[in-house]
Amino acid sequence: MTSKQPIGLLDSGFGGLTVASEVLRQLPQEDIIYVGDNLRCPYGSRQPSEVKRYLFQIMDVLAEQDVKMIIIACNTATAAGLDEARTRYSIPVLGVISPGSRAAISATQTERIGVIGTDVTITSDSYRREIHRINPRLYVVNQACPPFVQLVEEDRTDTEEAHQIVARFLNPLQDEQIDTLILGCTHYPLLAPVIGEVMGDKIKLISSAEETAREASTILQVKHLLNDDNPVPQHRFLTTGDPDYFRKVGSRWLKREIEVTGITLLP
Ligand code: SIN
Repeated sequence: MTSKQPIGLLDSGFGGLTVASEVLRQLPQEDIIYVGDNLRCPYGSRQPSEVKRYLFQIMDVLAEQDVKMIIIACNTATAAGLDEARTRYSIPVLGVISPGSRAAISATQTERIGVIGTDVTITSDSYRREIHRINPRLYVVNQACPPFVQLVEEDRTDTEEAHQIVARFLNPLQDEQIDTLILGCTHYPLLAPVIGEVMGDKIKLISSAEETAREASTILQVKHLLNDDNPVPQHRFLTTGDPDYFRKVGSRWLKREIEVTGITLLP
């Protein structure tokens, strides 16, 4: 393996761009290949076995592109398949649940943490288990928010409807006296302004993006795979959905013009 190989990232759709954006910021000389499975998004209310099958199909695509590391920039896919993915591929594979948990543990003062995510992520209880593995004293309360992903995928984050849906699903957390809320789905940081408005400014919102990119950077450094000589890095974006729509929405979220190629995966 060499430092010149790209980093692979994947998500069910646009959400992983929150992680890609941090990777581009923290590791500006790396080439990246991002796959968004927009055609089959959302993953969050599917069977975990189905999510795992989709995950491995995309990881195979990335492995064929000779990536040096894969970041599963999707909480649902991390919850469903990270452990097995690590045994299937010989390159480093990172998920987003451990980094997000660590960030929340360091942020909380009251030792009360909320977690929001998709049905698969919340049912897996992965965040609570990861947080308690490190600090069993912390109180963790879970809340599934299934409609949030579609608000992002359909580019409806900046609407009154989004505000109402977010307020309804976060209502059960209002009396929990949490001071930290994990955005346990990589789509949710794209709804952060609305989530912040509903929860109030005393609640710290935790996205795993920053901590995940930091972990990627540390692993590449330790394995002597950090690309530190690449003045014109290549950023490739692939989608199973409509490439023009991905380019339009993705360019806005990433604040840069991106080129997008359509791909087809097995059903
Ligand atoms: C989804 O596709 O439902 C959400 C992806 C995630 O959990 O990050």
